[in-house]
Amino acid sequence: MSKQGEIEYLENLGSEGKVHAFNKPFSDADCSRYLIDLGFIMTLLPSSPCRLLDLGVGTGWTSVFLAKRGYRVTGVDISPQMIALAEKNRERYEAENLNFLVSDFEGLTFDREFDCAVFYDSLHHAIDGPKALNSVYKALKPGGVCITLEPGAGHSRTQDSRRAIEEFDITEKDMHPEKVIALAEKTGFKTARIFHFSFLPTEIRNKTGPYRVVKDKIRQVFRIARTPGDYTRALSERNLVLMKK
Ligand SMILES: C[S@@+](CC[C@H](N)C(=O)[O-])C[C@H]1O[C@@H](n2cnc3c(N)ncnc32)[C@H](O)[C@@H]1O
Repeated sequence: MSKQGEIEYLENLGSEGKVHAFNKPFSDADCSRYLIDLGFIMTLLPSSPCRLLDLGVGTGWTSVFLAKRGYRVTGVDISPQMIALAEKNRERYEAENLNFLVSDFEGLTFDREFDCAVFYDSLHHAIDGPKALNSVYKALKPGGVCITLEPGAGHSRTQDSRRAIEEFDITEKDMHPEKVIALAEKTGFKTARIFHFSFLPTEIRNKTGPYRVVKDKIRQVFRIARTPGDYTRALSERNLVLMKK
């Protein structure tokens, strides 16, 4: 697992992989989940316009969406090739208020400049998690928020992760909420809250069939993990943590 592996990943993917990466989220079978994930992140972010630091952006699709929504976005990735495609995405979607930087999120030099920061599917690629969170903490204004949306326990042992580690020498870690909360505490964030959500639609049914809505059965799709059951689920599934400086 090395930073060099992350830097060379796109090159090693080959032409088909590059086209797929460039066209994310639309090119991916999990497109609906990606869009829902970003929707959840948006519900928890401070309102636009404000300055947002997007960390480990890959080809930049989250940055483009967030900039289109009115955030003033700086997107960061360690891979120059990823950032080259992110720049192309910025141009083709005519996104304003958006700049990209080739930079290691474990050693950023921003100082109290951003209102919010997002790690989407990227903190689990950090070699040094505490360093990554520290540099983001420094980049945030007092009261700023950092959102992580990361895969949970067991991610590093999936077949895909093991293959990526072996074949591309990239980093794949578990990044369950307990781990993120521990990092947040160590870094000095004042609060950290875990949010669990399902990206599968819940059909509302009653005894006679699916079409009549039963009022008290309507569930909030997204809620704070309150019960032990929610918490156990949140550990193993994708999860979102919101921390406040
Ligand atoms: C799984 S990809 C996710 C990309 C993007 N967030 C998305 O959803 O398409 C993880 C990204 O993190 C980047 N990355 C890994 N380590 C990094 C580091 N130390 N600093 C900045 N970016 C890093 C990789 O280059 C890669 O683009």
